Amino acid sequence: MGYVKDLFKEKADVQSKDIKTIIEQNGNKKLEDVTLAQVYQGMRGITGLVTETSLLDSNEGIRFRGFSIPELREKLPKVEGGNEPLPEGLFYLMLIGELPTQTDVDHISDTWSRRSHVPNHVFHVIESFPTSAHPMTQFCAAIMALQTESKFTKAYSEGVSKKEHWSYVYEDAMTLISRLPRIAAYIYRRKYKNGEHIHPDGMQDWSGNFAHMLGYEDESFKELMRLYLTIHADHEGGNVSAHATHLVGSALSDPYLSFAAGMTGLAGPLHGLANQEVIRWIDEMCTELNSQEPSKEEIAEYIKKTLLQGKVVPGYGHAVLRKTDPRFLAQMEFAKRHCPDDSLIKTVWNIYDVAPPILESTGKIKNPWPNVDAHSGALLKHYGLVEEDFYTVLFGVSRALGVLSSLCWDRALGFPIERPKSITTEWVKKFLKQAESVA
Ligand SMILES: CC(C)(COP(=O)(O)OP(=O)(O)OC[C@H]1O[C@@H](n2cnc3c(N)ncnc32)[C@H](O)[C@@H]1OP(=O)(O)O)[C@@H](O)C(=O)NCCC(=O)NCCS
Repeated sequence: MGYVKDLFKEKADVQSKDIKTIIEQNGNKKLEDVTLAQVYQGMRGITGLVTETSLLDSNEGIRFRGFSIPELREKLPKVEGGNEPLPEGLFYLMLIGELPTQTDVDHISDTWSRRSHVPNHVFHVIESFPTSAHPMTQFCAAIMALQTESKFTKAYSEGVSKKEHWSYVYEDAMTLISRLPRIAAYIYRRKYKNGEHIHPDGMQDWSGNFAHMLGYEDESFKELMRLYLTIHADHEGGNVSAHATHLVGSALSDPYLSFAAGMTGLAGPLHGLANQEVIRWIDEMCTELNSQEPSKEEIAEYIKKTLLQGKVVPGYGHAVLRKTDPRFLAQMEFAKRHCPDDSLIKTVWNIYDVAPPILESTGKIKNPWPNVDAHSGALLKHYGLVEEDFYTVLFGVSRALGVLSSLCWDRALGFPIERPKSITTEWVKKFLKQAESVA
């Protein structure tokens, strides 16, 4: 067993004991009341999950084990001469709960590099799709194909004790994360680069090697990938991809099956596909206005038109956040340093200047500020990664770090199968009648 795995087990044992005590001593304490509106409207704001890896504050944004994005950018180890955090370090932080040293990060990089070999049948599954298939469809299918490798499923069928589940889930999570960049790059090169594939370079970090396999050797693109794969990794537990992975995992479906469920959720336009939608929306605006850099007045008119057509302005709004997403700001800061004169990026910034008051004036949009997806596509385009329907795959590779480290915690803490109660509207009507007659 590697030392990170041993350390994880130590931490999880302590946390397990603490949770036991919390439930024994305070299990009956009420957290909050739940309204019918919340039940009908996407369970918004109902606290019903424990996710140890990160916590979202609606005004401050995400904190990973207590660290904000600016703090992560400062404190996590980097490549020599680099400025951006290594996602390996964030994975360690989410898993162990402490900042990693350079040695810890090197250990994770080495482990992932050693396990990155993808079995041939996975490529055959990808090859069986028409190249027109959406990259997320190919990505989800490839993850399912990888499931033949699950150590958890094998151990479970051999009757392993429940106490050991976490160990096999940990192994599967590490192997799956190791292989995702190769799969994603394979889908990219097959769909957009005539199937001219690039061999992995095991000497590079996880993100550097991913950029290399995608076909991008520019060092500042590699830095962007390190930042991108860090900031998209986790957003506490209630978002669709995290919740779906956790829910499916609670049935003791192995990490491959659980992660595939998360990824099919990420593929939705209101969740991870929004990054693709943002670029399409800007492209359509530029085409309609016949300008590569429309003025703020023109942008404002186009936003109003989008709203009048009953469509969403992609990249704006959030179910929890009520301020500008710090993940948007981190990308903006990166762009200011690396590519401040790019016309698409300047358009993203102009949208940021004019969209919030317009969205706010509708009176119904709870958060008029940009989210992570409002900026990411413009940066990728700047470096030549122009194929926007691939962007959600990049998001998915990153999201694996959060949801799979969480899955390790779920099993190490022995969380049971998730099974909330549902009701019918008929039940609600009866309940309301009864409440009326009592009053
Ligand atoms: C993220 C999102 C799904 C959150 O949904 P939510 O929690 O229901 O948001 P709200 O409570 O603010 O929604 C209230 C109303 O405002 C609308 N709204 C929210 N964001 C909007 C936007 N960016 N453009 C237009 N309308 C928006 C909703 O569709 C809803 O309309 P309805 O009452 O007619 O159904 C939503 O803001 C959205 O669709 N944004 C665009 C897609 C996007 O960027 N997704 C990525 C999220 S990280």
